[in-house]
Amino acid sequence: MASRAVGAAVAVVAVLLLLAPGAEPIGLWLPPPTGGGGRLGGAAAPGRYLTQEERWMDQTLDHFNPTDHRQFKQRYYEFLDYYRAPKGPIFLYICGESSCNGIPNSYLAVMAKKFGAAVVSPEHRYYGKSSPFESLTTENLRFLSSKQALFDLAVFRQYYQETLNAKYNRSGADSSWFVFGGSYAGALSAWFRLKFPHLTCGSLASSGVVLSVYNYTDFDKQIGESAGPECKAALQETTKLVDGQLQSGRNAVKQLFGASTLANDGDFLFLLADAEAIAFQYGNPDALCSPIVEAKKNGTDLVETFARYVKDYYIGTFGASVASYDQEYLKNTTPPPAESGYGGTKFAVKLHISKWLQKMIVSVLQRLTQGDPSNCSSPAAVSTVRKQIASHISVWLSQCQEPTRIKMCNTVKAVARR
Ligand SMILES: *[C@@H]1O[C@H](CO)[C@@H](O)[C@H](O)[C@H]1NC(C)=O
Ligand SMILES: *[C@@H]1O[C@H](CO)[C@@H](O)[C@H](O)[C@H]1NC(C)=O
Ligand SMILES: *[C@@H]1O[C@H](CO)[C@@H](O)[C@H](O)[C@H]1NC(C)=O
Ligand SMILES: *[C@@H]1O[C@H](CO)[C@@H](O)[C@H](O)[C@H]1NC(C)=O
Repeated sequence: MASRAVGAAVAVVAVLLLLAPGAEPIGLWLPPPTGGGGRLGGAAAPGRYLTQEERWMDQTLDHFNPTDHRQFKQRYYEFLDYYRAPKGPIFLYICGESSCNGIPNSYLAVMAKKFGAAVVSPEHRYYGKSSPFESLTTENLRFLSSKQALFDLAVFRQYYQETLNAKYNRSGADSSWFVFGGSYAGALSAWFRLKFPHLTCGSLASSGVVLSVYNYTDFDKQIGESAGPECKAALQETTKLVDGQLQSGRNAVKQLFGASTLANDGDFLFLLADAEAIAFQYGNPDALCSPIVEAKKNGTDLVETFARYVKDYYIGTFGASVASYDQEYLKNTTPPPAESGYGGTKFAVKLHISKWLQKMIVSVLQRLTQGDPSNCSSPAAVSTVRKQIASHISVWLSQCQEPTRIKMCNTVKAVARR
């Protein structure tokens, strides 16, 4: 089926993830959607967020043009309940390529409590309420890049340090910072440490997408492995049949999948490959494998069975849209202004993310939110990794506080100021 070209030059990663429906839109650490999220201090069940109280800072629009002084409002959140002033560290949780609706009550919260850390989380430029422009025309999108986003983080880091210093009547104090992120934000987290080693004691990059692989067929191989031999064989047979039908009469088979608007065969095949992959990537293999294996056994048409899955599940339940696979549509579409939440519903890709969040991520997040690995398939492995993470953070933070290091940092800053 359609092969994937994942990733490209570092500078355009943010844009790519926005446009590529195959890319994992949400990292492990990202928060659930607004609505239904309880606040801390509620009833028995812990809230899904530590806080949803919005704060704002003035952010530089273009970090690379000294003559452009335009700014925009960047949204962020802070949570100080666990903060042990004044020596406690600051955990910077990077929100990725979606609306940032609060600081999720995830395992990060467990670690913040353990380390007495303040937790802060800025929203990524151009998402949620942090859009510099009303209208997302191609022209206006030119400041959307991972490079700009990295400098946003650096500016935010300095801004927030001063804000906290003012709050505690300290001047010139510099806390120990640690940066966290998952998926695309995981890449930002790693790059932040590389680019600004003096601004953070370390970074955690969970599923960080730092290595671009052209024609990433290993992904599809993993899908086959996750499917198991029986389902994999049925899926491969289905693919062959679709390929054959595409050769003979392409419109008929596209119509069957409700995708006759996709003129480009590659776009169509990418839709089908993605529709298969999400069943495994997001933990619901039975939605696809049960009907397809059953159809194979009882002699029902495989392509029709697969088409029903694509229409009912991938588009109907999961919330994907055919248009988001249409190259021509994407080239010619300007998304409407970002409103509250996820932005305009006419923009296919955003809608895709929004529905996905609402319907799919909730169960995954519930497992993460309690900070309790008992619901994972290998709880022991998760516990081991978490212990390692905590001990690494501990080591890195303690090294950061060594007097020599502080002295060196101050020297570097003094030089930089001149
Ligand atoms: C900071 O200073 C102000 C004014 O001197 C005082 O009212 C406030 O209580 C101080 N805050 C802290 C956290 O010490
Ligand atoms: C992608 O990789 C596969 C497997 O290695 C290979 O057969 C195929 O020709 C490659 N396609 C492109 C476009 O490079
Ligand atoms: C065969 O399996 C398909 C897919 O699950 C199902 O929709 C259909 O009702 C089954 N047909 C018979 C005759 O059991
Ligand atoms: C997690 O597991 C516990 C018991 O081990 C169960 O009560 C709970 O419903 C599970 N939660 C999810 C989200 O699966």
